[in-house]
Amino acid sequence: MQFIDLITQKNRIRERVMQRLEAIVDHGQYVMGPEVPELEKQLAAYVGTKHCVSCSSGTDALLMPLMAMGVGPGDAVLTTPFTFVATAEVISLAGATPVFVDVLPGTFNIDPDLVGAAVGQARAKGLNPKALIPVDLFGLPADYGRLEQVAAENGIWILEDAAQGFGGTFRGRRAGCFGLVGATSFFPAKPLGCYGDGGAVFTDDDELDRVLRSVRVHGQGDGDDKYFNVRIGINGRLDTMQAAVLLEKLAIFDDELVARQRVADAYSSRLRGRVEVPEVPSGYTSSWAQYSVLASCTAERERIMGALQQAGIPSVVYYRIPLHLQKAYLDLGYAKGDFPISEDFSSRVFSLPMHPYLKDEDIEEICAVILKA
Ligand SMILES: Cc1ncc(COP(=O)(O)O)c(C=O)c1O
Repeated sequence: MQFIDLITQKNRIRERVMQRLEAIVDHGQYVMGPEVPELEKQLAAYVGTKHCVSCSSGTDALLMPLMAMGVGPGDAVLTTPFTFVATAEVISLAGATPVFVDVLPGTFNIDPDLVGAAVGQARAKGLNPKALIPVDLFGLPADYGRLEQVAAENGIWILEDAAQGFGGTFRGRRAGCFGLVGATSFFPAKPLGCYGDGGAVFTDDDELDRVLRSVRVHGQGDGDDKYFNVRIGINGRLDTMQAAVLLEKLAIFDDELVARQRVADAYSSRLRGRVEVPEVPSGYTSSWAQYSVLASCTAERERIMGALQQAGIPSVVYYRIPLHLQKAYLDLGYAKGDFPISEDFSSRVFSLPMHPYLKDEDIEEICAVILKA
C-alpha cells in the first residue's frame, strides 16, 4: 500500500500531460514559456487573488515575499513551531529572527490569542516584529478571522503558508488568499503537486506583485535589459514543464478534493472515539494534505505504527520534533516546555495513507489494524 499514490493519478492524466510536454519540447521555451503565465492566470482565478507569481518551490514562495518586503536582520517574524522546517528556515535565510507561537488544542494551527504576547516578547528582545506566518497544517486553513484582526492590532502583516492548505477554504475563501500574501508548494506529495519542485505566491497588492517578479529573477529591473539589477533576488522560476503538468492536475483538482474528503470521512467514522481524529470546524474545509490523528500517548502511537508496519501499511510522524527543539534552532534559546501543545502533539501524532484514490477496502484494512492495536 502507498502512503500517497501518484501512479493512479498519473494514469488518469498521462495522455494529456504527455501532449503538453511534447508541445514544450517542440516550442523550445523551457524557461518562462507560455504555459507559465497560463498557469498563473488560472491559479489566481482559482485562489481568488489579483496576482499569482509561480516559482521554483514552496520554500522560495515563502522566501520571496520576505525578501520583497525587505525583512532582514533585527526583524522578528512569528510562526508556529509545529510545522515543516521550511516555514521557519526562510525567516532565518532572510536574516530575521523566528519567534515561535504555540498551536491551538483541537486544531494543529497557530493560536491567535498568543500572538500579541509573542509580539511583546520580540520587542522585549530588541527585535522589530514585522510579519506573521500562520501555517494551514495538514490541509486545514488557520483561523484567519482572528489572525487578520490580531495582526492589524499589532502592526504586522500576514504571509500565509498554504503549502499544505491549498484547496482548503475558510468562510468560502480559498487558502492562499489570506493576509497580505500567500505561498504554496507544488512538491509532488502536496494536494496539488507537480513532477518535481514548484510553488506559487498569491497577492492582491500590485506593487508587491511587481517586486516579487523582480525577486524571482535575480532582482532584475522593469526595463528590457535583463542584466539591469535593482535588488538582490534569486533564481526562483517555475519550469515550463512543471507549469504544464500543473495545468492538467488543476483540471482534476476539485474532483480530487471531493475524493480526499470521502477518504477523511471514512477514516473518521471508523476511528472517532478510539484515537483523536482531526475535526474540521464549521466554516472551514480541509484539502486533507495529511490525515493526522493523535494517540493517547507515545507508547500507544509506537504500538499502532508498529502494527501498521507489520501489516505492510505505511504511516508517518509529522512532526516528531517541534522546531524550537531542533538542533538548528538551539541558538534561539528556547527550552522544552516553552510550547506545551506543540510538544504534546509531537509526542502523539501520526499520519495515515491519504490520497484521492485510496480504496474503501484499504481504508477498512487500515482502520481494522488500528482498532486491533
Ligand atoms: C508547511 C510547509 N511549508 C513549506 C514547505 C516547503 O515547500 P517545498 O518543499 O516545495 O519547498 C512545505 C513542504 O514541503 C510545507 O509542508
